[in-house]
Amino acid sequence: MTTNSSLSNAQFAFLDLKPDLDVIVGEVQQSLSLEAKSISPKFFYDERGSELFDAITELPEYYVTRTEMALFDAHMEEISDSLEENICVIEYGSGSTKKIRRLLDVLKPEAYVPVDISGDYLLSNAQTLLGDFPALKIFPVCADITESFALPTQVSELRPLGFYPGSSIGNFEPAKAVDFLKRVHATLGTGGYFLVGVDAKKDVSILEAAYDDAAGVTAQFNLNTLVHLNEKLGADFDLDQFVHFSKYNSDQGCIQMFLKSSVAQQVNVAGKVISFAEGELLHTENSYKYAKQEFITLAQSAQFECLKSWQDDNEWFSLFLLRAC
Ligand code: AVJ
Repeated sequence: MTTNSSLSNAQFAFLDLKPDLDVIVGEVQQSLSLEAKSISPKFFYDERGSELFDAITELPEYYVTRTEMALFDAHMEEISDSLEENICVIEYGSGSTKKIRRLLDVLKPEAYVPVDISGDYLLSNAQTLLGDFPALKIFPVCADITESFALPTQVSELRPLGFYPGSSIGNFEPAKAVDFLKRVHATLGTGGYFLVGVDAKKDVSILEAAYDDAAGVTAQFNLNTLVHLNEKLGADFDLDQFVHFSKYNSDQGCIQMFLKSSVAQQVNVAGKVISFAEGELLHTENSYKYAKQEFITLAQSAQFECLKSWQDDNEWFSLFLLRAC
């Protein structure tokens, strides 16, 4: 753990809790050695992956972001009125900070803690945000949100509002989502608020188009995981020998994304040789979809009560304002 003191003052400080490279190598080698191979979706998000995700949010097929933003635009005053003064927003996976920008004028928090695994992207976006919102205290934390992490000490007197938009909670299997929410509960403390956006179940053709767009941006985003591992871990995945594949799994209620090996091949991943059969699937993401009551029940098992919730007219997407009790 290091804090970069040259970037620290009362209004801005960067906290680097990024896992060490050998831990990451071990994790990737382990998940590639299982019978059903997988790579965690967190490996989508190097700088290029974060940019590709931004491009996804603008695709005609990807209804998720624009549906959620319309809900924020329509209900942010009401959300803000439901909170107390002296709010500190902690954003789980802040990415481009595009969403919080739309909310800051209404929410008027004292401080903002963007948390993201992609350190350089986080720092540069946080610095740009500081330029645009000079009165806001910003304490970016580079951390893996799928693990426990500590909040910066500077915000300990403020009322935390966890912010987890975009249905990223869908990346966890339901039982793991409960574990995640329990960690969020511990981080925020009793009385902490949690504003979360969750994608709903809907027609399979709509879901499948959203994860396999005509322009092929989702395919590039998925394949970028391999570029990321090549660059970061010194792996030698051949991008021409894997193809994007995604499908809705109606038993589990999730979109699943894979990279399919076009040929029998061997890949060296930081010194470990991984063999793929022709047609073998490498799992890269689950994106679970929840009916409104399904999600409220899930949140309750992690000791959160639902204060309010909002859905669009099509019931494609839900926002929940939860409180840790
Ligand atoms: C950022 C996890 C919410 O699951 O919709 C978009 C990621 N994957 N297209 C999602 C994603 C493929 C996205 N989340």
